[in-house]
Amino acid sequence: MPSPPPCVASDPMDRIADIAARRRTLKLLPDPAAPLSGGGLDRAAVDAMVAAAGWAPFHRACAAGREGGAAPEPWRVHALDKAACLDLIPRLDGFAKPPAKIANMLAAADAMLLVTWLPEEGGDWAASEMNMEHIAAAGAAIQTLLLAATERGVGSYWSSGGSLATREVLDALGAGGGEVLLGAIFLWPETPAGIDAAPGKLRAQRTAPDRWARWVEIGDMPSR
Ligand SMILES: Cc1cc2nc3c(=O)[nH]c(=O)nc-3n(C[C@H](O)[C@H](O)[C@H](O)COP(=O)(O)O)c2cc1C
Repeated sequence: MPSPPPCVASDPMDRIADIAARRRTLKLLPDPAAPLSGGGLDRAAVDAMVAAAGWAPFHRACAAGREGGAAPEPWRVHALDKAACLDLIPRLDGFAKPPAKIANMLAAADAMLLVTWLPEEGGDWAASEMNMEHIAAAGAAIQTLLLAATERGVGSYWSSGGSLATREVLDALGAGGGEVLLGAIFLWPETPAGIDAAPGKLRAQRTAPDRWARWVEIGDMPSR
């Protein structure tokens, strides 16, 4: 197991800190012509991780939930199992944006989850407090999913999605309407045999909390 980054206190009582530190970006890029055989992650295990993600906080119901009886959560999850990941690789060539490394990652994935958020306006969204909260909630759902994967020994990678984030690919995969991709989440074996695994590029740049967190002393507050 890699050593935890410096920002995490090594408190054996803190299970969440332990899981959070063990969560790490792991990128697998095999040749699409030689896909990995798979780590045996079944739909039930993915469903359990998705259910965990569903406990993320959200502050406002999405517009479709307020108005049309749709689920109020401001996120949606579209899951592809191993067979679907492999079937998607040749299909991506038919779309405008080249799949680039997405094809390699689909060849490695046991599952890939498109996690979207629902802007108030749908499609071309505007910066607003409501949209900020929707994105934040969907991000919390993704992190919860990643922690659930880590707890199960499943490797993960949160990608912006590249070609998967385009409107035409999202529509084709049933993530239509106004959904916007927040993350293409690749799930795969944590310790793949015989394949290069790349880390997240900012992993080693993490800093201790004193660089980005502070206690507020009210006595220092200017009087008004
Ligand atoms: C919103 C978001 C989008 C990301 N998109 C990409 C991506 O497109 N390509 C990539 O290499 N890493 C992507 N990452 C992963 C980060 O590079 C990674 O989290 C960071 O380097 C820290 O490494 P760690 O996750 O191992 O701690 C993304 C992470 C987040 C939160």
